[in-house]
Amino acid sequence: MKRRLLVTGGAGFIGSNFIRYIQSNEPETTIVNLDLLTYAGSLENLKGLPLPGNHHFVKGDICDQSLVESLIRDHRIDTIINFAAESHVDRSLEGPSAFIQTNIVGTFSLLEVARKVWLQEGHLNEKSVRFHHISTDEVYGTLKPEEPAFEEATPYAPNSPYAASKASSDHLVRSYAHSFGLPVTISNCSNNYGPYQFPEKLIPLMILNAITGKPLPIYGDGMQIRDWLYVEDHCEAIWAIIQEGKIGESYNIGGGNQPPNIEIVKTICGILDEKEGFSEFAPHDQLIKYVKDRPGHDRRYDMNFEKINDDLGWQPKHNLKEGLRDTVEWYLENIDWLNAIITEKDYQNWMQINYDQRGKK
Ligand code: NAD
Ligand code: DAU
Repeated sequence: MKRRLLVTGGAGFIGSNFIRYIQSNEPETTIVNLDLLTYAGSLENLKGLPLPGNHHFVKGDICDQSLVESLIRDHRIDTIINFAAESHVDRSLEGPSAFIQTNIVGTFSLLEVARKVWLQEGHLNEKSVRFHHISTDEVYGTLKPEEPAFEEATPYAPNSPYAASKASSDHLVRSYAHSFGLPVTISNCSNNYGPYQFPEKLIPLMILNAITGKPLPIYGDGMQIRDWLYVEDHCEAIWAIIQEGKIGESYNIGGGNQPPNIEIVKTICGILDEKEGFSEFAPHDQLIKYVKDRPGHDRRYDMNFEKINDDLGWQPKHNLKEGLRDTVEWYLENIDWLNAIITEKDYQNWMQINYDQRGKK
């Protein structure tokens, strides 16, 4: 089936990687990319797409129901993939309202329009259309050292405003399937890393700061644990769910890599020492600085992704060592991209706010 996709948030990190993945693997697919171009979205992420003619970019808000309706009708959209979100936990602690608006109201708006249009066109309770919602492992809360990995049936217990807004959106998506027969799937994924990630998140921030000789801020004791997944593996999993996933189901996606944060940062420093041994900032781990912890910081995540493995045969292809090396190399080779992103005014403002919050232990 040649799908006609509405990808929301396709100018962000995972959305832009997904568009590249689809164009490289499913060249007959048409993509409409609806993105508000907030601080996190950039057209720089979409430069050099493999098939620019099959990609239609529209600047707009997922909360704008009339715009979304016209896009679904005009482009005969059969698959909506909702990446659009406010995605950064630290920002949700500084200013949660944008998270409520985009992540909850925005998802509701998309669901409402999809329901209306696909009902009129007789597509509800059908396999010919799909609403796929991108979510996170953070909806499950935090794990103690002895607790088993999150499963799809783990009760939701979100701890940050970001996680709570994503949990709310997941519940809305589920309810539209249950109440109205909207053909939905949901994926809950762990921490992604790779090309085009905005340098406020741990891995790209550490690379950027290390190559520019700035401190590498480690929150708390640095022993928090995340499960890391290379972004291309995430894209492959999403596409597998859209093609073969069971309607109404949620799927956990994880990487099977859980080093503590401090180990990730030291590994990045080691890769940079090898590649940029000539740098005045080498050895780069001298830049590590322990700072005040994130309030309410989740201690540990771990994902059980047996369901997607058993049902759809998906498993991650990249191991963390190689993925981190590829990622560091990508940033070193794409300094122009990095410069374009960090010269945005909002980036500098945010780094100052975050530094003021966590600069002192
Ligand atoms: P990102 O912040 O890099 O990109 C978000 C994109 O959404 C940006 O391009 C932004 O302009 C756009 N956007 C924001 N508000 C919008 C609105 N109202 N209307 C239209 N577009 C809007 O985020 P990301 O890291 O690529 O995450 C994408 C999705 O994946 C999010 O839903 C996030 O919750 C989820 N997720 C992310 C990770 C991760 O590690 N990054 C892991 C699991 C799940
Ligand atoms: O788990 C999935 C989630 O992963 C996604 O849903 C979110 O959208 C995504 O942002 C990410 O959330 P995290 O809070 O885990 O990612 P972040 O990169 O902000 O932080 C990763 C870990 O590193 C976390 O324990 C906090 C720590 N950290 C982060 C930064 C930015 C530091 O120690 N120092 C830092 O400067």
